[in-house]
Amino acid sequence: MPSFAHITGWGMAVPERVLTNDDLSKMVDTNDKWIRERTGIRERRIASENQSTASLAVDASIKALQVANLRPTDLDLIICSTSTPEHIFPATASLIQDRIGATRAGAFDLSAACSGFIYATNMAAQSIRSGAIQNALVIGSETLSRFVNWEDRNTCILFGDGAGAFVLQSSDMPGGVLSAVMHSDGSGGDSLILQGGGSKHPATEATVQAGKHFIEMDGREVFRFATRVMAGATREALDAAGLEMEAVKWIIPHQANYRIIEAAARGLKMPIERFIINVDRYGNTSTASIPIATVEAAEDGRIQPGDTIVLVGFGAGLTWGALAAEWTGPLPSERKVYPARYRLWAQIRSFLRRVVRFIEGLIWGRRA
Ligand code: ACO
Repeated sequence: MPSFAHITGWGMAVPERVLTNDDLSKMVDTNDKWIRERTGIRERRIASENQSTASLAVDASIKALQVANLRPTDLDLIICSTSTPEHIFPATASLIQDRIGATRAGAFDLSAACSGFIYATNMAAQSIRSGAIQNALVIGSETLSRFVNWEDRNTCILFGDGAGAFVLQSSDMPGGVLSAVMHSDGSGGDSLILQGGGSKHPATEATVQAGKHFIEMDGREVFRFATRVMAGATREALDAAGLEMEAVKWIIPHQANYRIIEAAARGLKMPIERFIINVDRYGNTSTASIPIATVEAAEDGRIQPGDTIVLVGFGAGLTWGALAAEWTGPLPSERKVYPARYRLWAQIRSFLRRVVRFIEGLIWGRRA
C-alpha cells in the first residue's frame, strides 16, 4: 500500500516585541515611506533576551502537535531548518527534541537559508513516503535580529524573528505533499553571507572588529535572482505533480519583499490576491516566513482541506525551490492528546538525565 505524507498540524510563534519603521528611522538614516515603498514592510518582531531560535521553535511545535492531535512521543523525526541556530553544534533540532519530550525522534538541522522550510518539508515527506517513518515535525525558526548590523540600513530594515512548524503524517489516503523541486547555485554565495564564526573565519577579535558576524547582502543582486526564479520553480513543482496553474488555490511565497512577490505574480499571470502575504507585519523571517504565512492562512480559514497550495522560496546559497501540496488537516482520531503537558515531563526527564550523567561522571571519573 503506498503511503502519502499529509500536513496534519501547524503552529507558529512570534516574539511580542514589535519594531516599526518609525522606530528604525530613529536608529538609522531611513524612513517609513522608503521602507514601505521599496519592501512592503511596516513592522517586524524582535526576540526578547530570554527568547531564542529553539524557544520560538518549541512554542510553534507544541501548537502544531496540538492541531495534529499527536503526542511528541509519536514523532520519528524532527528537522529544524534555520540559518540562526542556537549553536554551530549541537543541532537546534536536538534541543527542541529534548524540550518537547520527543523521546523516540531523530533530529537534525537543515541549512538552506530562506528555502530551507521547503527543503525540510520535502525531506520529511520523502522519508514518510518511503515507508521509513510515520510522523515528522518540520520547523522553520530564526532569530535574525541577533545577526543583523543595526547600523546598516541596507539590511536592518528587512529582517525579523519568528518560527513556524508543520506536522507531517503517513496515511494511505491520497493527497498531502505532491511534489517538490530544490535548486542551488553556490556561485552566488557571496551575495548574501554571514562570514564570521565558521571554519573559514573562526571568531576572533579581528573578525568582530571587521563586522564579519553580521549579515552582508548585495540587495540588488538578490532581488534580480529572486524575481528570476520564483515563477519558474512554481511551474516546475506543478509540472512534477501533473497539475495546471488553474488547480492552485493559494501560493505561499517567501516573504522577503512585496515587489518580489508582485514580480512572481506577473511571471505566473496569477492575481496577487491568490498569494498569501504578511511581509508587512513580520518582515523577512527567512526560513520561518513560509510556515508563518501558511499557519496564519490556515488559522483564519483561507486555506481549507482539499485546497492545492504551492510553497515557493529563495534565499542565501543561493538556493530556491517550490513544493506543491493538497492541504489535509488533522487525521481522524478517537483519542485526545495534550502535547503541551509533555513539556513539564520533558523538563523533569532532561534534568534527571543530566543528573545521571553527572553521577556517572563521578563514578567513572573524567578520564576515558
Ligand atoms: N532607507 C533609505 N534609503 C535606503 C535604504 C533605507 N533603508 N537602504 C538603501 N537606501 C538607498 C540606497 O543607498 C540607494 O541610494 P543611492 O541611489 O543614493 O545609492 C537607494 O536607496 C536605492 O537603493 P537600492 O539598493 O537600489 O534599493 P532597492 O530598490 O534595490 O531596494 C532592497 C533595496 C529592499 C534591499 C531590495 O534590493 C531587496 O529587497 N532585495 C532583496 C533582498 C532579499 O530578499 N534578501 C533576503 C533574501 S532571503 C535570505 O536568504 C535571508
